[in-house]
Amino acid sequence: MSQDLYAVMGHPISHSKSPLIHSLFATQTGEPVEYTAIQCPLDGFADSVKTFFERGGKGLNVTVPFKEQAWNMADVLSPGARAAGAVNTLFRDDEGRLCGENTDGPGLVRDLTVNQRLDLKGARILVLGAGGAVRGIMAPLLQEQPADVVIANRTVAKAEALAELFAGEVPVTACGFRDPKDAFDLIINGTSASLQGDLPPLDSSVVGPETITYDMMYGPGLTPFNQWARDLGAERVIDGLGMLVEQAAEAFACWRGVRPETSPVMAALRDRVG
Ligand code: ATR
Repeated sequence: MSQDLYAVMGHPISHSKSPLIHSLFATQTGEPVEYTAIQCPLDGFADSVKTFFERGGKGLNVTVPFKEQAWNMADVLSPGARAAGAVNTLFRDDEGRLCGENTDGPGLVRDLTVNQRLDLKGARILVLGAGGAVRGIMAPLLQEQPADVVIANRTVAKAEALAELFAGEVPVTACGFRDPKDAFDLIINGTSASLQGDLPPLDSSVVGPETITYDMMYGPGLTPFNQWARDLGAERVIDGLGMLVEQAAEAFACWRGVRPETSPVMAALRDRVG
């Protein structure tokens, strides 16, 4: 059977787990999917996308630093992608229009609510960071009807802009990292601070005995942020490996109309990542 071609585009891309995840999905579902990683030149994303689809490619995942560019290129955006301001999944519809979807936020929420069995309704959530990753998760998170969401960021003005964009039925407020002084039900780290060996300088009072932390980064081992929370007594600390697999499953379902089972793929990945 001939294979349909999919790929992830980014820069750099060699670290990407997407080819492994999608090949496991393809084996599991029996879908004729071949999935590769393509490193685009930093100034060559649009050309690479065009060439990929002209050569018969069926769908793309898009990662750092091209998600905003993919958003701008799409002829049609899903409501979720529109709110996210970024696109991580591209495909062509029957009329040849380039369609953009964002599966990061739905992937996070599915990991929290289905895999981790957390009920976010009425929860007090502290979100750390105000970049593209956080913007991408806000709308799906708010749909779960938490009591409120506080966005803390190094650059407070960026948190304020997001709070203004997303505040509605659920209150969303902005502040600096050191401002919150009471315990939250859930703290989500969406900063890239750990890539520079940093931690967001939070007051330790934000972690209480019941606080659950979720780091959008993942292992091996505890991430620096989750280690910090564990040292303060947090029992449940979760990393972003589940989000990674769930966002991939959402993309696979969007392309193929079949949603793969994620738990065996998460287990396989955990074995490799640690
Ligand atoms: P991404 O697409 O991963 O969200 P981004 O848009 O560059 O990347 O956003 C990175 C986020 O991590 C921002 O919230 C950034 O804070 P600023 O808005 O102040 O730049 C945050 N961040 C990056 N490095 C950090 C550090 N060393 N300490 C704290 N926050 C950091």
